[in-house]
Amino acid sequence: MSQEKKKKDSILSLLKYAGKYKWPLMLCPVVMIGEVAMETYIPKLIQRLIDEAIPYSEQNGEISQVLLCGGLMIVMALISMCFGMAGSYLGAKGGMGFGRNLRQALFEKIQTFSFKNIDKFSTASLVTRITTDVNQTQNTLIMLVRMAFRSPIMFLMSLIYALQMNPSLTTILFIAVPLLAAGIIIIMRNAFPRFQIMMKKYDIMNREVQENLIAIRVVKAFVRSEFEKKKFGAAADDVTKAQRSAEKVVLWNGPMMQILMNGCIVAVLWFGGQQIIRGEMGVGALLTFITYITQILMALMMLSFLFLGIVLSRASISRILEVLHEEPDIANPENAVMEVKDGEIEFDHVGFSYAGDQDNLVLQDISLHIRSGETIGLIGATGSAKTSLVSLIPRLYDVTCGTLKVGGRDVRDYDIHALRDQVAMVLQKNVLFSGSINENLRWGSERATDEEITAACQAAAADDFVRSFPDGYETDLGQGGVNVSGGQKQRLCIARALLKRPRIMILDDATSAVDTATDARIREALRSHMPETTKIIIAQRITSVMDADRVVVLDNGRIADVGTHDELLARCEIYRDVYLSQQKGVA
Ligand SMILES: Nc1ncnc2c1ncn2[C@@H]1O[C@H](COP(=O)(O)OP(=O)(O)OP(=O)(O)O)[C@@H](O)[C@H]1O
Ligand SMILES: [Mg+2]
Repeated sequence: MSQEKKKKDSILSLLKYAGKYKWPLMLCPVVMIGEVAMETYIPKLIQRLIDEAIPYSEQNGEISQVLLCGGLMIVMALISMCFGMAGSYLGAKGGMGFGRNLRQALFEKIQTFSFKNIDKFSTASLVTRITTDVNQTQNTLIMLVRMAFRSPIMFLMSLIYALQMNPSLTTILFIAVPLLAAGIIIIMRNAFPRFQIMMKKYDIMNREVQENLIAIRVVKAFVRSEFEKKKFGAAADDVTKAQRSAEKVVLWNGPMMQILMNGCIVAVLWFGGQQIIRGEMGVGALLTFITYITQILMALMMLSFLFLGIVLSRASISRILEVLHEEPDIANPENAVMEVKDGEIEFDHVGFSYAGDQDNLVLQDISLHIRSGETIGLIGATGSAKTSLVSLIPRLYDVTCGTLKVGGRDVRDYDIHALRDQVAMVLQKNVLFSGSINENLRWGSERATDEEITAACQAAAADDFVRSFPDGYETDLGQGGVNVSGGQKQRLCIARALLKRPRIMILDDATSAVDTATDARIREALRSHMPETTKIIIAQRITSVMDADRVVVLDNGRIADVGTHDELLARCEIYRDVYLSQQKGVA
């Protein structure tokens, strides 16, 4: 990665996502200056109290000066507390708001991704980016707005006051500060690579969790939980080890700071004590001076932590930017066509590869003309690229070579929404969402009336079982539609697609979990329910496609033959083999 790119991956490049939260983010450092001003001024009052007010009151027998100093101190401490609280509030508000906006921006960006974009990142990694990485960035930003001004100003003001009070004693800092800087550099140098390793281990652990949870049913079905537990345990151990190794180094910060701080105090007491004896300095001044030295060292320490945080969040930031800068693979053309004329489909020497690689095509030289309203069966061994072929029609993926026309126009000319509205696809791996059956069906058409919903469910042979549920159409489906059986889910997905009243309807193995009789009922209903709609039915069972107008036989990404059931039975060997093997099963 070039130096320039690395530089760009700073938190500043994300600040535009702060939106309306930029005000608290900008106000926070200003308020923190107020806190610092108070904090650095209070020691001066201590000096006045001890060196002037107390002797004065002892001489005059009245304590007005002491009360004045003490009162001022209390007032300033209260003001400082208010500033501190306001600063924390503003920082948190701005930072959290920034995180919220950033998450929203990422989520919106991901919505524009094509299947290919999503394949590239993987779902698990996208989830990590939207959660862990955004949190990391948001926390760094909060620390940044709180410390970026506060620490340098604390350092400067304390240094100036210390110099004003006693330039000769301040020379102690000439030894202490380089020592502290050297210590911090050594610690950071050692800690930083360890933190980086720790973050990587976190990634691995997150991946384990996500993979396992997404596939929790499979894990249970294969009784793999013991194995998965061990795998997760190992990943969690790795994180702990890496974390311990990093913390072990950072641990030195505390003792180092203590030694330096106490060393400085001893030195100040030693040399300052002599000055007191010589009458050059008061006791109060000495105390105040010690406070300033402590504040200077603390400020440097905070700055070093801030620096560590910024560097550590770099990895997260570049992972976030990677998503934000990703070009959606499939975009709307200019002057997009909004209307799909009819359900005609024409493949003209179409080739397709998931990687866009011309030499390694999943689909090769596909030429096929489908008339509007025709019913096409699509059959072929698993992995013969049936799903890949139909995915091209709603432009889930783009063809690699050749052209694909729908309604007489290249699919790339259409507005993607307009095209997908007219091409309903019941996916092989389909999902329902949490919510009621009614809500899920309305994904197909928000304005569908109850009659339309019932009609669609009747056509998809879903009405009967939906009505058998106690809550009927209001039955809650649970996350991912867990409350219905596989075949019921498939029928609901078909009903949802039917409600779109599309020009082209694709059923990708959509009735695989439905018994043969119901399957036949659904096909019959489709025919009568939507005669003008082009229907493409992918199936493993010959019975599901035998009454189609034509059947396409795919073999290893190529069209082996096209014809009616009888024609294919007579001349296509692959088709006949499948047919005979399935007949045998029946016999
Ligand atoms: N997202 C993807 N990225 C890369 N390769 C893929 C992807 N999806 C499928 N493939 C590959 O493309 C080929 C065709 O897969 P496809 O899913 O189209 O087959 P299919 O005929 O639908 O199989 P099945 O009957 O099992 O559903 C397979 O070799 C598969 O490995
Ligand atoms: Mg498939």
